[in-house]
Amino acid sequence: MKKSQKKSQASWGGRFSEGPSDLMLRFSESVSFDKLLARFDIEGSTAHAKMLAEVGILTKAECRQIVAGLAKILKRIEAGEFEWSESLEDVHMNIEQALTKEVPAAAKLHTARSRNDQVATDMRLFFKFACSQIIEKLEKLLAVLVDLADANKDVFIPGYTHLQRAQPVSVAHHVLAWVEMFARDLERFKFVREGANASPLGSGAIAGTTLPIDRTVTAQLLSFTDEESGDPVVTGNSMDAVADRDVFLEFAFACATLGVHFSRVSEDVIIWNTSEFAFVSLPDAFTTGSSLMPQKKNPDAFELMRGKSARLIANLNSLFVLVKGLPLTYNRDLQEDKPPVFDSFSQSAICADVLAACAAKMKFNREKCAAAVADPLLLATDLADYFVMRGVPFRQAHHMVGELVALSEKTKTPIDKLSDADVFAVCPKADKTWRGVFDLKRAFAMRENIGMPGPRQIAAQIAAWRELL
Ligand code: ARG
Repeated sequence: MKKSQKKSQASWGGRFSEGPSDLMLRFSESVSFDKLLARFDIEGSTAHAKMLAEVGILTKAECRQIVAGLAKILKRIEAGEFEWSESLEDVHMNIEQALTKEVPAAAKLHTARSRNDQVATDMRLFFKFACSQIIEKLEKLLAVLVDLADANKDVFIPGYTHLQRAQPVSVAHHVLAWVEMFARDLERFKFVREGANASPLGSGAIAGTTLPIDRTVTAQLLSFTDEESGDPVVTGNSMDAVADRDVFLEFAFACATLGVHFSRVSEDVIIWNTSEFAFVSLPDAFTTGSSLMPQKKNPDAFELMRGKSARLIANLNSLFVLVKGLPLTYNRDLQEDKPPVFDSFSQSAICADVLAACAAKMKFNREKCAAAVADPLLLATDLADYFVMRGVPFRQAHHMVGELVALSEKTKTPIDKLSDADVFAVCPKADKTWRGVFDLKRAFAMRENIGMPGPRQIAAQIAAWRELL
């Protein structure tokens, strides 16, 4: 390309005698990634044109031509027929130049607007869309998990602390714990969506404009409106509006937290899927074999989810580092704010889909679960509670059961098979009913307080989630 051509192309070319070098063009372009904003950019420009017409800066005819031209460009983009040019830097310039070629009046479109408030607007529209997408996916995931819990209400497994057998739970109780985690994520994305819901358009480059625009018109057209009153919502300070990246951080945080949840759930499943545990079997469609070891069926989907959480956490960190030292207001560094959030969006979305697909096909191995949960030591705490009900202070009861556990280990006798005499010697307040503690049915039936794994609780929780979803 000749330098003179470059000069004429740059939107800001007036004061320059020479266009940017090819190296600079390649270095500074963002269109390779921000073209993802095309539909939001066109939505924003359409609203802006309508507002300019309403306040008399554009004629009705000019506005009509611009709006129609923008719609045509969107169609071309969606059909993959639009030619993106690196030398036009970003999505905004690409679209504006293409429009101006078709519609001369488009030379007026950038009136009372800067790419600074334009990109802030595009991104807020993107975040509202992205949050809604993830919320929808999380709703589907939650429904699958509630089904999984429901199908495994009567499968009992050891619950673990320190990855040591702790107390018995049902698979349903464990899966409902995941449901709680993802339900919190869902609420978090609603909060982020709310934070994105204010129009920065009209803030200009930094200090607004001298032209008689009406910010509430564009806000209304772009649905930056109060959920209850329907009133337009606009940002309150033009400097903050173009410098602020809080919504980026909040979105990346919501994705990182979601990623950590994907990762922890994955770790549970990976452990359950080992030959040593063998509580669960995973669908072939989401596992892979080894190129060397014919017997292998690896839980790759879950390992990848665990791995992707690193990316989601790193994206949040990138954004924090990016903005922390920037003076107000816009600095070109901020162009780097997009790849991390786009990546967080696509990875969170696909993880939600993958987990939902896997969970829908996950099968619990009843025999292996039953064998593991038959360990009577899982009910050692219940024995202490039994002593407490007979008037023994808990600290002493705990100590007594500890002695019985030691005796059981020493004599290689399961704790529930110790003799009455052994137990009465340690706890004189016990009677012959002590052995009844080692009955899983009893253990669960006695845990019917809110949030506990008793069967009536679990049924009520499942019903409540179904109602909510
Ligand atoms: N591509 C730019 C970005 O993403 C758009 C805003 C450019 N503004 C500017 N003053 N150069 O940040």
